[in-house]
Amino acid sequence: MRIVITEQPELVIADRVAAAVRDGARTIGLATGSSPLKAYGELIRRHRDEGLSFAGVSAVLLDEYIGLPPDHSQSFARFIREHLTDGLDLAAVYAPDGMAADLPAAARAYDELIARFGPVSVQVLGIGANGHLGFNEPGSSFTSRSRVVQLARRTREDNARFFGSVDQVPSSAITQGLGTICEAQEPVLIATGEAKAEAVAAAVEGPVGVGCPASVLRRHPHATIAVDEAAAGLLHHRERYRLPDT
Ligand code: GLP
Repeated sequence: MRIVITEQPELVIADRVAAAVRDGARTIGLATGSSPLKAYGELIRRHRDEGLSFAGVSAVLLDEYIGLPPDHSQSFARFIREHLTDGLDLAAVYAPDGMAADLPAAARAYDELIARFGPVSVQVLGIGANGHLGFNEPGSSFTSRSRVVQLARRTREDNARFFGSVDQVPSSAITQGLGTICEAQEPVLIATGEAKAEAVAAAVEGPVGVGCPASVLRRHPHATIAVDEAAAGLLHHRERYRLPDT
C-alpha cells in the first residue's frame, strides 16, 4: 500500500482509473459519497474534452441502501448516475439490489456478478469517519463477502445530511465485503478534510484489524490512499509518504 499526500488527491484517483481503462480494464469499481466527486468530475472532463473512452467497460458499485428504490433521490444507483455514469460511455453499471425480496440471496448474487465480470481493476473507495469501507463497519471480517449489514449509528448520523434526519437514513444495506473489495487489482482510496484525519491515521498507522476496516488495505500490495494535507494531519510519518509526483 502507498500513501500519497497531495493537495489534489482527486487527480491521483482520476489518473489511476484512466490508466486502467486505457490498459484495457473490463470492470472498474465505484464508491459513492462526497469524497470521490471531484475525481468523477475530472473523469467526465477527460471523457468529454480528451476522448477518454469507457466503451466496453462495466462498473460495479460498492454498496446500496436497503429499502430505497433505484430512483430514490438518495439511492447510490441514482447517485452514481447523476454524478458520474450519465457523463461517460460505460457499457453497464451494476449495483446491489436493495429492494430484493430475498436480500441475502441478492447479496450473494452480487458477489457472483462481480466474480463474473471481474476481476475489478481499479476500485475507488472513500472512508467512513469510523474507518469503514463501503458499508463494512468496524468488526467486519477481512474475508467478508458481499452481504446484508446493519449500519452503525455514527454512519447513519454522518449520512443524515443527505436525508434530512437520521431517522430517515436506512438502517441496513448490501455492501461488497472486505474480501470482495480486496480482490480488486488496485484499490484507490480518497480522503480529504480534517474530519477524516482520525480514520486515515487509524487506517495507515494504527493496528491492522477489525477495529478499522480500512486497515485491511495495508495488506494489499497495490492499494493507494490519496489524501490532502488536512486528512493527513494526524499521520506521524508523513514525510515518508510524500512521494515524488510520479
Ligand atoms: C458511506 C459510503 C462509503 C463512503 C462513506 C464516506 O458510508 N457507503 O462508501 O466512503 O459514506 O462518505 P463521504 O465520502 O461522503 O465522507
